[in-house]
Amino acid sequence: TRRITVHDIAAAKVRGEKWPMLTAYDAMTASVFDEAGIPVILVGDSMGNCHLGYDTTVPVTMDEMTLLSAAVVRGTKRALVVGDLPFGSYQEGPVQALRNATRLVKDAGVGAIKLEGGERSLPQTELLVQAGIPVMSHLGLTPQSVNTMGYRVQGRSDEAAHRLLSDAKAAQDAGAFAVVLELVPAELAAEVTRSLHIPTIGIGAGAGTDAQVLVWTDMAGLTGGKVPRFTKQYANLRETLGDAARAFAEDVSGGAFPAEEHTFH
Ligand code: KIV
Ligand code: NA
Repeated sequence: TRRITVHDIAAAKVRGEKWPMLTAYDAMTASVFDEAGIPVILVGDSMGNCHLGYDTTVPVTMDEMTLLSAAVVRGTKRALVVGDLPFGSYQEGPVQALRNATRLVKDAGVGAIKLEGGERSLPQTELLVQAGIPVMSHLGLTPQSVNTMGYRVQGRSDEAAHRLLSDAKAAQDAGAFAVVLELVPAELAAEVTRSLHIPTIGIGAGAGTDAQVLVWTDMAGLTGGKVPRFTKQYANLRETLGDAARAFAEDVSGGAFPAEEHTFH
């Protein structure tokens, strides 16, 4: 088996095929998704909220991203693994972006990187693509800007919609191979999708995008508390794991575990 490449992703758009992307932050979970045939796995900086216990994605470091990206690469055989550039790892400029993206490619083995912003990240996108690193762009709600943007639907005014469309085209022109559209109105996401020859990957962006991405802990029902309305829960891992832990505890306190078959003499 060979890995999915950005060329396969481009071909899927030509064929009009829709495809799924999931996040993963560790080798074992990534291997489950790889075996399930998920073609693209994102080591998102959502690891901040969903794996490392931070309140936002903002504190995530390059060390954390490199460590967990390497684990996801080791856990997969077929998926294209995309590593997120965390906040502060590319905003200083293209040279900083290239240095950190190179780390994810060389030390972790990712096949592509993702960064937030259209126009504002153009020099970074151009240099990375020139250097041979495939870039996925991320527009609409960009969680690394939570302190200025908050968490709300983006592109609702005519002006904001126009800006999103021009950001998407700019990312495409700079050489990005795909664009994530987060939390934008479905009609706008569909318009962006029709306007680009590279695929759009929606999250909270309606059914008109080329691909769909979900954060795996939300999708599998592991996340505690409130999950966003755009998420669909396909399992309830929080309940399943909690039940398993409670059953183990009960077996230990009641003496039912270990039984004879778990015991050496
Ligand atoms: O970090 C992440 O999980 C993401 C996806 C939501 C696109 O950026
Ligand atoms: Na992210």
